[in-house]
Amino acid sequence: MTAQEWLSWYPNPLPELIARLDAIKLPEWPDVVLETDLSAELNHWLCQWLSACFSELGLLEVSHAHASRSGWPEYFSRWQAESLRQLVASGLAVKTGEHYQLTGSIVNRASLIQQWHDAGFRARCPDVFHAQMQLLEACVWALPDILTGQRKATDVLFPNSSMALVEGIYKGNPLADAYNQIVQDNVLAYLHQRLALEPNAQFRVLEIGAGTGGTSAGLFKRLKPLQNHIAEYCYTDLSKAFLNHAENQYAGDAPYLRTALFDVSKAPSVQGLANNTYDMVIAANVLHATPSIKPTLRHAKQLLRNRGVLVLNEISANSLMAHLTFGLLAGWWLYQDEHLRIPGSPGLSPDTWQDVLLNEGFNHVLFPAPDWHGLGQQIILAQSDGRVRLTQASAPTKPVLTPAPTIVKANPTVSAVSELSPRAALLAWLSQAVAACLKMPVEKIHAGKALESYGLDSILVVQLTNQLHKHFNGVTSTLFFEVATLNA
Ligand SMILES: C[S@@+](CC[C@H](N)C(=O)[O-])C[C@H]1O[C@@H](n2cnc3c(N)ncnc32)[C@H](O)[C@@H]1O
Repeated sequence: MTAQEWLSWYPNPLPELIARLDAIKLPEWPDVVLETDLSAELNHWLCQWLSACFSELGLLEVSHAHASRSGWPEYFSRWQAESLRQLVASGLAVKTGEHYQLTGSIVNRASLIQQWHDAGFRARCPDVFHAQMQLLEACVWALPDILTGQRKATDVLFPNSSMALVEGIYKGNPLADAYNQIVQDNVLAYLHQRLALEPNAQFRVLEIGAGTGGTSAGLFKRLKPLQNHIAEYCYTDLSKAFLNHAENQYAGDAPYLRTALFDVSKAPSVQGLANNTYDMVIAANVLHATPSIKPTLRHAKQLLRNRGVLVLNEISANSLMAHLTFGLLAGWWLYQDEHLRIPGSPGLSPDTWQDVLLNEGFNHVLFPAPDWHGLGQQIILAQSDGRVRLTQASAPTKPVLTPAPTIVKANPTVSAVSELSPRAALLAWLSQAVAACLKMPVEKIHAGKALESYGLDSILVVQLTNQLHKHFNGVTSTLFFEVATLNA
């Protein structure tokens, strides 16, 4: 505890139910175990590819000169250091002092491309890993361009700002769906247990980093029979683009849906969310992406009621596949508390999760699917002991709920603006486009006000630019990063 912090205790504890969740039946064990030979062969090929790229591009030293020459983002030096560590671990490089040297003969990229096709990795890979393979291939082929600064990693993982390539990792593939099902089974089991004790209970659930809804899409369907007992499902994320997605896609299935911007690395109460409110807080593939796990857990706990349950779906291991895909993104390297993370990755091992959760006052921690940890993910349930560490900034506030979604026309029409001068017409058209993108009434958009202040973030900027491309030639993809207001 620091001098600016104090401990508070939330009264009115919920019933103690977490222990009963231990008995939930797991889904069928997925028929997924990657042929051991294939897995080893693929890893070896990936290491050789890294080695060829590093040799050709002169990356055997972690040097700031190279980083600035190639216009690398700052986190790339961490990525490079981990790549070199993996090369040493695989026996393809040795480290002497601060220098790395590749060992044996280096296979060039052209031969490796041939080997990839001859080995038939795609065809041999079980269907459940199809999404991973597709993403891996896109990243591997683009790696030299990313390393020379010719392409941005985000453009490779999110081509044309589409989530499709990445989304397949989190939903719609049998392995991800099985983990999501375990999360959903536990949420439903908890609600049923509570209803058995309190038939009129009204639940509040908050999801952190809900993204495109890998977990919640299925959950909303399964919550239908209980919908009269759901007072609120607060769907949160860093980007308004995901909140818009949820309102468009899920409001029909989930009349109790609320959306809110929320960064779990900051206190919820300063972001308009109410402390001591939620029966359950869900976070799937999110918490590891924050700079420091302990404050992150404190913030999640502030939202929960006494004995409320935190439900996590988290990565359980480091892998070369993850390093060569998500490892290319800035979010992978935000973590500062390296001593708590699996070396070379933002993930935490099950033992570390258990320790930090207990230390942060989650008094009952459960891993409902320990046998599944080897497949890359872990599910964790943790019950709050109702004691929270607060600061001036995170002290309890009255609930501030987001208003119901505003329906705004998605496509601005030209007819409505055609009687204005060309500049005024363009401004009116742009205001409508921005309003539609932000799902705000157009009257609230002022041409002189910074677009960022309306919540126009980088994902929405790309959506807006794509919309503009349909109507105007010569709009550059960086336009909205260059101009701050519509007037500009
Ligand atoms: C890997 S995606 C997972 C999305 C979703 N939970 C799923 O499993 O399909 C991670 C999500 O967490 C969000 N995120 C990243 N950092 C966050 C933070 N500090 N606070 C809240 N959300 C965050 C991202 O915007 C993204 O939508």
